[in-house]
Amino acid sequence: IWMSKSHYCMLHYQKTPQKLTCILFLSICLCRRKGSSKWEPRSLLEKLRWVTLGYHYNWDTKKYSANHHTPFPSDLAFLSEQVAAACGFRGFQAQAGILNYYHFDSSLGIHVDESELDHSRPLLSFSFGQSSIFLLGGLKREEAPTAMFMHSGDIMVMSGFSRLLYHAVPRVLPNPEGTALPSCLDQALSSDLPVGSVIERSSDEDWQVCAKYLQSSRINMTIRQVLAEGQKFPEECGTNREVQAPSEDSHYPEDSRAKRHKPNTD
Ligand code: OGA
Ligand code: MN
Repeated sequence: IWMSKSHYCMLHYQKTPQKLTCILFLSICLCRRKGSSKWEPRSLLEKLRWVTLGYHYNWDTKKYSANHHTPFPSDLAFLSEQVAAACGFRGFQAQAGILNYYHFDSSLGIHVDESELDHSRPLLSFSFGQSSIFLLGGLKREEAPTAMFMHSGDIMVMSGFSRLLYHAVPRVLPNPEGTALPSCLDQALSSDLPVGSVIERSSDEDWQVCAKYLQSSRINMTIRQVLAEGQKFPEECGTNREVQAPSEDSHYPEDSRAKRHKPNTD
């Protein structure tokens, strides 16, 4: 897990071989808000903006590399492969993931996801919790975008022509059902799940933490295949270079107070 420079607090990450269990112990850190000299307690969960999986995206170099990799969670890889196959992309390999955590004051600046080396493979995007407005633009930054809602449970597949289009998330909005949690996240799971189901029951304790978080947050996971079948990363010049700390002005979700690339919606 990579954290941005502002995330200097400890994030504990537990992983079992079969499932991704990201447990955020609700430790309290003392943080200073921008422009304030007062130290205030804030939970790590409040500060979390993104997590990377598999080949960890380097926000500064905008590259993935062979030497910064951890095993991709098998349950999320399986789900992604099923979704890709259902859309006609057989043999999709989930190799990298960016998980974005949004609050009502967060946004994601305009960008194209082009760091993956094989653009013929789709990019899968899964959204949970609160809703958002998604702007899908053109091949050029200045092109007028199409606005659409992304609600909890929506899956977006960016493939073919749309794979390299500019896009942004300018707003997070309360889910349209007017309830704290969208109903699909509020239903009890049937106790007899079919064999091989991609759905797994979590403990009530874990779910309570997730449900509370999603009442005022949106989580988006974008899953990527980085390399074509059999492809290797090109030899990097200066491979002994130190891994740089991620920068603050990248495209990851930020509070709207913070400096970011604003989408051009005029
Ligand atoms: C991304 C991305 C969109 C979203 O992570 O690259 O574009 O809906 N996310 O949060
Ligand atoms: Mn993107």
